[in-house]
Amino acid sequence: MQETAREFAASFGNAAEGTVFVPGRVNLIGEHVDYNDGLVLPMPVREGTAVAWARADHGEIVIRAADLDESDRFAAPRPPRPPVLDWRSYVRGMAAELSPPPGTGIDLLVHGNLPRGSGLSSSASFCVALGRALGDALGRQYDPASLAKAAQRTEHEWAGVACGIMDQMAVAAGETGKALLLDCRDLACQQFELPSHWSVAIVDSGVTRGLVDGEYNLRREQCETAARKLGIASLRDADRASLDGAALNEMEFKRALHVVEEISRVRRATQAIAESDLDAMTSILREGHASLRDLFEVSVPEVDRLVDAVDAILDGRGAARMTGAGFGGSVVIVLDRAALPDLEKALDRPVRPVF
Ligand code: GLA
Repeated sequence: MQETAREFAASFGNAAEGTVFVPGRVNLIGEHVDYNDGLVLPMPVREGTAVAWARADHGEIVIRAADLDESDRFAAPRPPRPPVLDWRSYVRGMAAELSPPPGTGIDLLVHGNLPRGSGLSSSASFCVALGRALGDALGRQYDPASLAKAAQRTEHEWAGVACGIMDQMAVAAGETGKALLLDCRDLACQQFELPSHWSVAIVDSGVTRGLVDGEYNLRREQCETAARKLGIASLRDADRASLDGAALNEMEFKRALHVVEEISRVRRATQAIAESDLDAMTSILREGHASLRDLFEVSVPEVDRLVDAVDAILDGRGAARMTGAGFGGSVVIVLDRAALPDLEKALDRPVRPVF
């Protein structure tokens, strides 16, 4: 945050009035269930997005993306769409959401250290940080859920990704070092302290997500079709028995089964945390990864190999699974804190502790 405020002063020639920081997130369990009204269990990571701001009298929103050495300027309250979909789409989307009065002048400088396309919610972090900075500059107070919903609408309407609400809520309402049990149906939040002898770490598979938004939106449609055929509002209302005998094709059955079982894994995970039961958590993560690979079909071989390599090193002292939308990105590992040095030594990739 300090560096961002310094860069702001160097760039705009006056001091920032405020700086905000919003982290990225890693999801412990509960994947591809948020848009099915399900339960999820994400937690904030250390990296994120910092935005420094100050009001200005030039009557425009001016923003510099320090990492990209690019900038943008537009007039509030209804900015036009940028010529191509890029970081400016998110900025303009959030500005349209907050709808500052005509003639509003604000300077912003943004700096982020979340790798993009690694499944750690860089765009949700970016949008919520922008919302908070713009809100502060406008003298408005937003609660986490309002900012999260504005960021989700921006993702839908300005980036074309029909995402759920998990990422935006995780970064807006998550607390450092705690897992957030989020009910995506009513946005009820419950914070869970993790047992002190557990650790959570992330390893990047090195496969950057590309051209996957189509696959993501397709998964969502498949789930919605399955719910329609089952005669329910969302797959949150399905159970194992209701799937058997329903008129689902094989693919829809697999998608729905993943959702039903994944929601139950989230409940089991909160119990494992409450009881400090790492064996149970290890099984839950393994089952979760297998389900994303075989039933939901959103993993890739490189990620599967990385998950297997981590599991072999840990040998029961924790487990790994893909985290986020899939098709590459990072894996999340929950493990016995005492096993962390072994993992760091034996794995040929950097291990980044979150907790
Ligand atoms: C992405 C989306 C989320 C969620 C996850 C999968 O991160 O933005 O809404 O659906 O994928 O769990």
